[in-house]
Amino acid sequence: MRIDVVSIFPSYFDGLTLSLLGRARENGLLDLHVHDLRDWTSDRHRTVDDTPYGGGAGMVMKPEPWGLALDELAGSSRPTIIFPSPAGEVFRQSTAREFAEHDHLIIGCGRYEGIDERVFEYAATLGEVRLVSLGDYVLNGGEVAAMAMIEAIGRLVPGVVGNPESLVEESHEDGLLEYGSYTKPSTWRDREVPGVLLSGNHAAIAAWRREQQIERTRARRPDLLSD
Ligand code: ADE
Repeated sequence: MRIDVVSIFPSYFDGLTLSLLGRARENGLLDLHVHDLRDWTSDRHRTVDDTPYGGGAGMVMKPEPWGLALDELAGSSRPTIIFPSPAGEVFRQSTAREFAEHDHLIIGCGRYEGIDERVFEYAATLGEVRLVSLGDYVLNGGEVAAMAMIEAIGRLVPGVVGNPESLVEESHEDGLLEYGSYTKPSTWRDREVPGVLLSGNHAAIAAWRREQQIERTRARRPDLLSD
């Protein structure tokens, strides 16, 4: 999978060289390229923003650098072009699964009060455009959201996570939160590991874990059960 990220703060993404995703990049499983939007400006100040037509607070990202960046990065591959935005559809595990099937993603990180609306229309001529929100809160820009998405998508690419079974038994994969986990010692500060986990009875353990999943989903995220 190839992912191109466009941002005015490319060094945000340095953290993606660490750990699991860093290894996936070294192994060639994840071909991640981070670009500076200002490389597609031509003025002395490398300007990427301007005042909004119609007035209002803040600055809007100019369309020209975005157009040139998208032209160069999209090529003829018909990529999926993702713009992190609090005004987008909510990013879920199912969204991560869907994007993990794609060969080429471009993630365009906006800042300030947003990107000139015509950029989204133009991007739709180059590929499939998706405005995607991390949740119902406002970040200063798309970078942190893009990093979260890259990590959620990247770990679903076959081979990135060493033991694929660990992907199956986790929160949100089956619409429920994950059960609690325990390790040694079996008694710690007077707290015991639930006895069923020491029983060796695999059917009883599976039933207990399922019950835990349902119970904690009901307590913490009842919205997941009513969907
Ligand atoms: N940019 C600003 N806020 C955001 C959010 N909640 N999700 C995605 N991108 C954003």
